[in-house]
Amino acid sequence: MKLKSQINQVIKEAFSKAGIDVDTVMVTDATKAEFGDFQFNGVMPLAKTLRKNPREIATELINHIDLTGVIAKAEVAGPGFINLWLNDAWVASQCEIALNDERLSVEKKENPIKVVVDYSGPNMAKQMHVGHLRSTIIGDTLANLLTFLGDDVIRQNHIGDWGTQFGMLIAHLEEMGSEGSSSLKDLEQFYKDAKKRFDEDEDFANKAREYVVKIQSGDLHCINLWQKFIDISLGHCEDMYDKLCVKLTRDDVKAESFYNEDLPQVIEDLIKQNLLTESDGAQCVFLEGEKIPVIVQKSGGGYLYATTDLAALRYRANVLGAKRISYIVDARQAGHFKQVFKVAKESGFVAEDVTLEHVAFGMMMDKSGRPFKTRDGGTVKLTDLLDEAVVKAKAAIKDKENYSQEEIEDLAQIIGIGAVKYADLSINRESNYIFSWDKMLSFEGNTSLYMQYAYARIQSIFRRFEGEVKGDIIIGDEIEHRLSVMLLRFEDILNQAAVNAASNQITSYLYELATLFMRFYEQNPMLREGVDEETKMSRLALADLTAKTIKQGLDILGIEVVDKL
Ligand code: ARG
Repeated sequence: MKLKSQINQVIKEAFSKAGIDVDTVMVTDATKAEFGDFQFNGVMPLAKTLRKNPREIATELINHIDLTGVIAKAEVAGPGFINLWLNDAWVASQCEIALNDERLSVEKKENPIKVVVDYSGPNMAKQMHVGHLRSTIIGDTLANLLTFLGDDVIRQNHIGDWGTQFGMLIAHLEEMGSEGSSSLKDLEQFYKDAKKRFDEDEDFANKAREYVVKIQSGDLHCINLWQKFIDISLGHCEDMYDKLCVKLTRDDVKAESFYNEDLPQVIEDLIKQNLLTESDGAQCVFLEGEKIPVIVQKSGGGYLYATTDLAALRYRANVLGAKRISYIVDARQAGHFKQVFKVAKESGFVAEDVTLEHVAFGMMMDKSGRPFKTRDGGTVKLTDLLDEAVVKAKAAIKDKENYSQEEIEDLAQIIGIGAVKYADLSINRESNYIFSWDKMLSFEGNTSLYMQYAYARIQSIFRRFEGEVKGDIIIGDEIEHRLSVMLLRFEDILNQAAVNAASNQITSYLYELATLFMRFYEQNPMLREGVDEETKMSRLALADLTAKTIKQGLDILGIEVVDKL
């Protein structure tokens, strides 16, 4: 049940009864409570063609608005706006339907499509750091959201497992013998040690170079070493995914190396399309309107990041059959994706009707607005950051004596990880993002903790109530009206967030919902003596639907709820 389209329909019918021809009608959310629930601002643009005063048109229109169903009241405001209030009885009945539906009345898409979501993509030679955090959680949320809405989602983890640095790394791994695996626990250190060996020992450096060639030519010994290295490194990433409740698995890994075999073919096909030009010995695609060409093969014959992405693009479009391919990657790669997408379309690697999108995000900054680094200027390891989140969350738990030690550990995990994720997901992804522990671990404001707290509040009401909620929802006052209408907006919000790949539209919604609930909860007691049975049941039902909506929303963000907080 998409709320806005139902209202649009009512307005459209009014237009038709008034004998005015319009194509589309789009109501918007009212900007203030006194302007009703929704507003229609589409009259003014019609005034000119109809040669009438917009207020006159608006007045005529509201005379034809059906006030027996969805809408209860329509008023002309300002120069010709129409303010709309929804009908309490209708809203209540819709909330009841949502409450009795597992999916909270969120319909699955009528025409689902196959979507590839490319996210996380860590580099196997390095420890995962905070830069990968954003891609990982924004991407996972988009994948969850589209799945919930019914699309066929294929998660793809385009890990960096290929390149000259692996020669040096596997030569070092071999040299370390049985100690190799354990010293790989700290990839950063391992990399530094290997680099040191490479810089200081000529023989080692030669061996490393030789190993690069050997992996490329499929030498079994070197491939085995490389495989072992990737295995361990990927294992570290999977620990992070587990901690983060991110659903990426090994099945979702399609590493850069997966496309190796197709790279010569990519070049050949580009030649066939007359798209390649040699420049200083390198093979380039010059695109119209672009100063810098896309280099697809170096003068020595080596391939590049862009070549692999072209191979990946056609694999995703043609083998996997994706109709939308979303790349959740740092905004600094915007130029790369713009060019690669263009080449993919011009070469016919990807059909015109496939949507290619770069879901870009900004950098993570510290409080003083500088890129997020450790005290000594190093990159912050993701594992350290997440451990710290849990420690800080433990400190934030109030009334610890109410919990067992085990409960505190679990709670800290859920709160801490939730806080890190929510803080990231709640900002406009394209802006740089200021990381602040204090802000993200606050019970106040637009935080996961506030949402988890609202949810736990409702669970505690139900623990005290101990019964079964039955009976109708009866909207008794303004706050109940606003809360109910907000609950019915959920589906529209999710659909909008899916189109824009904007998780912050979900968090803003959840925040508004939880805030309305808190006001409702303060004003309208449920279990207090003197509240009649009918009112009690109706309020409990609203609380129940609120909790379920918060839970579902957080679930899409990959954040857990708790029953007690
Ligand atoms: N490994 C890349 C990086 O760390 C991200 C990969 C993004 N995906 C892609 N298909 N290029 O920057």
